[in-house]
Amino acid sequence: MEEQMKIVETIQDLRSHLKLERVQGNLIGFVPTMGYLHNGHAALMQEARQANDVVVLSIFVNPTQFGPNEDYHTYPRDLERDTEIARANHVDYIFYPTVEEMYSTANSSVSVTVHHGTDILCGKSRPTHFDGVATVVTKLLNIIQPDRVYFGMKDAQQLAIVKQLVRDLSIPVEVCAVEIVRESDNLALSSRNVRLNAQERIDAICLYQTLSHVRSLLDQGYEVEQAILFGREFFNKISKLGQLDYLEAYAFPGLTQLQSEDKQGLLAIAVQYENARLIDNMIIDF
Ligand code: PAJ
Repeated sequence: MEEQMKIVETIQDLRSHLKLERVQGNLIGFVPTMGYLHNGHAALMQEARQANDVVVLSIFVNPTQFGPNEDYHTYPRDLERDTEIARANHVDYIFYPTVEEMYSTANSSVSVTVHHGTDILCGKSRPTHFDGVATVVTKLLNIIQPDRVYFGMKDAQQLAIVKQLVRDLSIPVEVCAVEIVRESDNLALSSRNVRLNAQERIDAICLYQTLSHVRSLLDQGYEVEQAILFGREFFNKISKLGQLDYLEAYAFPGLTQLQSEDKQGLLAIAVQYENARLIDNMIIDF
């Protein structure tokens, strides 16, 4: 019979559960999320389920990765629904800490700072975001000490930064990347998609269409810079409701300026709608 999924709220409880799992030789796969789960998160849980004996899912809307004027307080939350989705995907433990549990000392003075790849793409308009992500991911990895941790390609810049973090801080975990899960019209699944109104939801296919347009220009032999310029024009023509935040390409996973010898590039887009900022990307092979 399948074991009951456990919802664990404290670091101490989770540690004692996982200690027992480790003693039995069980490999632990970990999926960090901010909840309001969808099929993108489910893909991560499924990959974790396949490759590990134990699956831990964290649901924590991390305040330190939100800027002062961002949507921390209105970020969508639904623990009951999330619990059902986690159960359906055979998660063993949901780690659901409070903010006080994760950031207990009011005068805490140590955090993780990322020195490269944070002043471009999402980091440009969200200057403290990736330090917040790096700090919470480091804490979660220290608490759970998983064998593998799963991140979606949807947040490719986050994935690249986490890979670097794990290397630079010598954290003993394998970082596994999972492909972007999309709606049938190719909009990338996101917890923030619920904030689009009906017209914006239709308009939002322009993110993927713009990425595809740039990719086809590159396939036709256009230089990257030219293809991006045409891509921005294309976006402004097809989107009636979105404001283009960026459409750019960088080397991947290094997040450096593209050079002629680079084998892989990240083509990334961000678009602001009235109540939601959406991102999407494609990996380009040269
Ligand atoms: P969140 O936005 O909830 O995303 C959790 C994980 O799900 C991330 O690795 C993200 O890339 C992945 N994901 C989201 N949408 C996806 C999609 N359509 N296809 C595939 N994967 C998708 O990212 C965060 O939370 C936070 O920054 C976190 C890492 C939990 C730190 O707080």
